Amino acid sequence: MAVRRPDLRIEALAPHHDRSGFSCGIDSLDRYFRTQAGQDVRRKANGVFVLVEPDRPDVVLGYYTLCATGLPHGDVPVAARKHVPRYPLVSAILVGRLAVCEARQGQRLGAMLLADAVRRTYATVSTVGASMLVVDAINERAAAFYEGNGFLRLPDSLRLVLPMDVIKGMVKS
Ligand SMILES: CC(C)(COP(=O)(O)OP(=O)(O)OC[C@H]1O[C@@H](n2cnc3c(N)ncnc32)[C@H](O)[C@@H]1OP(=O)(O)O)[C@@H](O)C(=O)NCCC(=O)NCCS
Repeated sequence: MAVRRPDLRIEALAPHHDRSGFSCGIDSLDRYFRTQAGQDVRRKANGVFVLVEPDRPDVVLGYYTLCATGLPHGDVPVAARKHVPRYPLVSAILVGRLAVCEARQGQRLGAMLLADAVRRTYATVSTVGASMLVVDAINERAAAFYEGNGFLRLPDSLRLVLPMDVIKGMVKS
């Protein structure tokens, strides 16, 4: 799992962060961050977390969102089924969006954001339980990124999951 870096900080989205200047190259993710993320935070619809450099605290290098969700048991990959209870709907935390600004892609910042999402999820599940982290990748390249970071992919789908047992192992190692 990507390590924390002293020259970078991940924090909750706040009014001083510049949302209008963020661009990752995927329109829907840029539009969400510029126009919707602030309202989602106010309404508690999503947790939104941003990556910044401490000496330029308003410039957002990347962001991700977290919210609660449920997954039909049939949508849990076979390899993950032994880790989850047999309820019709399996509790989960959704990484709804994750993006790194175009200029900084390919420098492991996405891996760092994802590791933060994993740690943050693990820190909350003793209070509000969830059996896995889930993500719907936007395209094949993004799916490869999640697979490279330990997520299991559902067959014929862009949905990937990370079971809580695996998360526990990652966080404790
Ligand atoms: C996907 C994304 C978050 C990955 O973050 P990143 O910091 O660029 O990725 P990392 O440096 O941690 O990891 C690199 C791996 O990510 C994958 N990747 C996916 N999109 C990429 C991109 N545009 N640039 C570079 N790597 C990308 C590759 O598999 C790459 O592995 P490789 O080096 O073996 O080719 C980022 O590239 C991005 O924001 N892309 C546009 C928005 C997007 O697709 N978001 C995902 C929504 S589900």
